[in-house]
Amino acid sequence: MIPLFKRFPALAEALPYEALADLPTPVRSCAALGVEAKTESLHVKCDDVTGADYGGNKVRKLAFLLAQARKQGATSTLTFGAAGSNHALATAIYARKLGFQPISMLVPQYNAHSVRRNLLRGLAAGASLNHFERRLDVARGTIGEIFAARRAGEPRPFIIPAGGSAPLGTVGFVNAGLELHDQIVEGELPAPDTLYVASGTMGTCVGLLIGLQLAGLDMTVMAVAVTSPPYTSMEKARRLFARTVGLLRKADPNFPTLVFPEAQFCLREDYLGESYARYTKAGVTAVAQARELADIALEGTYTGKAMACLLGDGESGHLAGKKVLFWNTYNSVSQESAIKDIDYHQLSAPFHRYYEEAVQELDRVEG
Ligand SMILES: Cc1ncc(COP(=O)(O)O)c(C=O)c1O
Repeated sequence: MIPLFKRFPALAEALPYEALADLPTPVRSCAALGVEAKTESLHVKCDDVTGADYGGNKVRKLAFLLAQARKQGATSTLTFGAAGSNHALATAIYARKLGFQPISMLVPQYNAHSVRRNLLRGLAAGASLNHFERRLDVARGTIGEIFAARRAGEPRPFIIPAGGSAPLGTVGFVNAGLELHDQIVEGELPAPDTLYVASGTMGTCVGLLIGLQLAGLDMTVMAVAVTSPPYTSMEKARRLFARTVGLLRKADPNFPTLVFPEAQFCLREDYLGESYARYTKAGVTAVAQARELADIALEGTYTGKAMACLLGDGESGHLAGKKVLFWNTYNSVSQESAIKDIDYHQLSAPFHRYYEEAVQELDRVEG
């Protein structure tokens, strides 16, 4: 049983949950990278291996969200993201596994090798991939899908917001915070002073903040913004925190009333660079250092920027004497065999640009 349900048995009754994720995920000590970052110790929480089909942070959220879809009797899921979205891909893979038809509503993004791979993998998973030039068109397209299902006499698609950061998805990371607490108690790592994690739609960092508070763990969460407002902002963090605690209290009145711990949450907007999915020099350098010193595979959109923040803080001496935890949110389960026989021409025409145009300059060396 997951730690959240052990602590609050009423939640196990009230909340939908599908055991999609292999939990707990391991924790690793990364001494050489810790020396580079001038920390007392550095550990990595390996959410890259949350699932045998596809890892990364989304699996914890989908365990709740897809269970809700099933409970509602949906036969399809519909979600949103940029063309190379890991969330849209994870949803496609796990929705399909549970028997849903996944629909992805995708908008343009800076080109990268990971965009090319994720699109092919989404196709291999059987997702219906739709490309929209503007966000307004996404809204129209979504309404179109809802009407198409109605005309076909099928249930309405189960809609999952971008990044899976609905309060119910965020609960997946409340559990993750408690899971970390149990690993500390079992002596797998010392209680960290500071935790670094990438923030795209905030479900990961806010869920962790709630879980850590519940567990009585006093650490600073450094949420490293890889998107701009409204996707990542203090206002969004406070709202998602309140909505998630509200959902949990409604499901179990014994769940405590928690107050957003301002002193323990630090939103870092200094490693975003130009914009979402635009690689930065600091980010790609951090990806290379993580690979060389700790054999960890990160990437330039999310985890590279979070690691750059950690290394930057280390460089300026802020992590001296500190026990640091890096939460690795990026899938490391190889998807190559699933995509090796797929040609990009099998994707609809608007996606061909990602294969016919060059990837962004900082991604020229495939990582
Ligand atoms: C690899 C990776 N890390 C971090 C994130 C950000 O997580 P969240 O949207 O919960 O802030 C994402 C979201 O897409 C991701 O794909």
